[in-house]
Amino acid sequence: MVEREFIFLKPNTIRRGLTGEVISRLERRGIKIIALKMIQFTREQAEKLYEEHKDKPFYNELIDFVLSGPSVVMVVEGPRVIEMVRHIIGATDPLKASPGSIRGEFGMSVTKNIVHASDSPEKAEREMKIFFSEEEILNYRLDVQGDL
Ligand code: TYD
Ligand code: MG
Repeated sequence: MVEREFIFLKPNTIRRGLTGEVISRLERRGIKIIALKMIQFTREQAEKLYEEHKDKPFYNELIDFVLSGPSVVMVVEGPRVIEMVRHIIGATDPLKASPGSIRGEFGMSVTKNIVHASDSPEKAEREMKIFFSEEEILNYRLDVQGDL
């Protein structure tokens, strides 16, 4: 079953010059990118994205952090892509993420954990609509060599 997922690279990832590294790790795993851009989040977008966390103790710090500089927003597509991307990214807390995962290798703290990826098809649809119009989500054939 083909799913779509919303991903964003957090501002510290861009500041640390890890944009290409993180995107490359996804591409190497055969993840198909169907939309991508660099943007400065508005407060409205940040609050909408993290709506489910608004009563959590870390909420204000999280919002300030995602507003601290540009982010790279993406949409990816593929069979079971949500499960695959969450696996490649690793656990929320970089200390608990496996060493070979993106957060396990580059994450500095729970808040500054490099990358966000939606965790269900419903949330993916909701989250990508905050940042992309339908016209910005493109269709093409991924030319992968190997087993995919
Ligand atoms: P969550 O949805 O639980 O994690 P994930 O990004 O793996 O889906 O939390 C959303 C973001 O909130 C998380 O990426 C970083 C931040 N966060 C904190 O800053 N402190 C915390 O204790 C938790 C649980 C999350
Ligand atoms: Mg989440």
